[in-house]
Amino acid sequence: MNLNLMPVPAQITLTGEKFRLTDSFTLAVKGEAGDRLYKGSTRVLRRLAGRTGLFFPQDFITKESCSDTADFIIKTNREGRVALHEDETYQLTITKDKIEIAAETDIGALRGLETFLQLLSVDDKGYYFPTIKIDDYPRFPWRGLLIDVSRHFMPVNVIKRNLDGLAAVKMNVLHWHLADDQGFRVECKTFPKLHEKGSDGFYYTQEQIKDIVAYADDRGIRVIPEFDVPAHATSWLVGYPELGSAPGPYTVERNWGIKDPTLDPTRETTYEFLDKFFEEMADLFPDEYMHIGGDENNGNHWNANESIQAYMKENNIPDNHTLQSHFNQRILQILTKHGKKMIGWDEIFHPDLPKNIVIHSWRGQESLVESAKQGYNGILSNGYYIDLIQPAFYHYLNDPIPEDSPLTESEKKNILGGEATSWGELITYETVDSRIWPRTAVIAERLWSPQNVKDVEDMYHRLEVVSFHLEELGLTHIKNYEMMLRRLTNNTDVTALRNLVDVIEQVKKYARHFQGIKYTSYSPYTRIVDAARPESMKARRFNKLVDELIANKKNASTDEIKSMLNLWKNNHKELVNTIKVSPVIKEIETLSEDLAAISGIGLKSINYITSGKKSSKRWVKKSMKMLEKSKEPRGQIELMVISGIEKLVRVAGKD
Ligand code: ACM
Repeated sequence: MNLNLMPVPAQITLTGEKFRLTDSFTLAVKGEAGDRLYKGSTRVLRRLAGRTGLFFPQDFITKESCSDTADFIIKTNREGRVALHEDETYQLTITKDKIEIAAETDIGALRGLETFLQLLSVDDKGYYFPTIKIDDYPRFPWRGLLIDVSRHFMPVNVIKRNLDGLAAVKMNVLHWHLADDQGFRVECKTFPKLHEKGSDGFYYTQEQIKDIVAYADDRGIRVIPEFDVPAHATSWLVGYPELGSAPGPYTVERNWGIKDPTLDPTRETTYEFLDKFFEEMADLFPDEYMHIGGDENNGNHWNANESIQAYMKENNIPDNHTLQSHFNQRILQILTKHGKKMIGWDEIFHPDLPKNIVIHSWRGQESLVESAKQGYNGILSNGYYIDLIQPAFYHYLNDPIPEDSPLTESEKKNILGGEATSWGELITYETVDSRIWPRTAVIAERLWSPQNVKDVEDMYHRLEVVSFHLEELGLTHIKNYEMMLRRLTNNTDVTALRNLVDVIEQVKKYARHFQGIKYTSYSPYTRIVDAARPESMKARRFNKLVDELIANKKNASTDEIKSMLNLWKNNHKELVNTIKVSPVIKEIETLSEDLAAISGIGLKSINYITSGKKSSKRWVKKSMKMLEKSKEPRGQIELMVISGIEKLVRVAGKD
């Protein structure tokens, strides 16, 4: 039986029967449960009703509405703390006539409830749950997503729906990148010029922050704020230039890249400011960790500042990295005083720092290994940079502790998990969900499921289903595609444009910044490149069918391949009409023309292959030349079906 579970649980035993879901279905919470579990199970009941259209008897799950004879009993021993290392284990048992979740904490029970929902199945008699016994627990305790709201502000509802998405795939950390050169996004009462001058008016009030933290807590998700210091700090300096290493004045940065403005680490007044600042933020954010960033300090403003240079000489500080380590030690004292532990990017790693900090590795596995060897806890983000627009399988196979890890068993315990990072330079509230989902679900699986769960085909199969379930929670990664296409066609027929955009992807890594277009905070992020999904499932299917055809020439998939190629071959003449009413898409006109041409080549190749006739060498050469030309990105996008067509041509030309 095909279970569409993601993340795959640690242990599953199917017992071959079915629990039939009817409109008399009831649920009861037993044991030491608090508000979180009553609210959480109510939400699950509503989602179940929403998916099945069944009118269940219970509205809200409350202590009073919980009967001992309910169909589904949830038992917990205690309320959990939304904190690192809290117990998230659960057992889910489904028999023909009873369902039970047993968990140490309510947070474990919430994880089990998500598995329960993913098990909903259907046959010709209606909805049912397969009978099953699941014993489940996470491989890593720290499983997170970074959302960058500085580069582009993300309204409260964006954060909330992404918290729902995280909970659905058992992630437990929202890393909130709240301040950077391009925006300071938190209301600060002690130093109000931070948000007043540093945010263009786009910031979260403290009431909104508390609301989001509570929303996350309800879902068993920690919220870790990041205040990136000493660099990436332009937005702080707009209102408080006296903190800077250069005289200023400063303005909110509109451009992307590594910038010079940096806090001055040699003045006591900087620490007096940060002490009061972190005191206020420590109250606002209850998690025991505070992320201080610490990355990409280019040192330009330190090098140019005579008084900083004199300070370094006087105190025998040999270089900027050591100066930053002095700064970090002061920050650590401040955070400790306010009851917080420190986490920062790779660059904060310095042997002078005590072992109770967490190193967040973005530069590579090596730095994670190095810090783990020296006894530091670490989490991995290198390989989980979802803003680099890489395919799901790439992230899926990236393991915080690879099988060939040089770490000893006890050193491995220092690796706490990982975080997907959604850096926000090129994304807005319209596209953020499609950059995060569904790919983050496979990172969630990597961090939760046993290491040996890594069948890529099986993952893609499950991901398709999980993606629809994520949309059901309010995420817009699927539905905004059509909206963006409609806008791009000037609200005319989107069919021809969709046929093209279905098989393209944005240029990879950060290539978009280096193709002659200068992006800033307020550029339009509404072009075809923005509508295109990070991974084209249609192209993936086409390339896979081609592989199958080549492996087995009388394969039945020939018809499907031909029908795809025919569609693309004929699409261009339709799209030309759309371009006439929508100049914004003119930038892909020649790419569309190339798709038609190479699809024709693909069809010809299939004729050669299926008829057993061999193509001429000249035709192969000419076709390959055309295919090569079609690889050139236009409108910052690439056709993703070229490799499949190239394979067809090669086989057509083989003796
Ligand atoms: C980073 O990507 N600079 C953490």
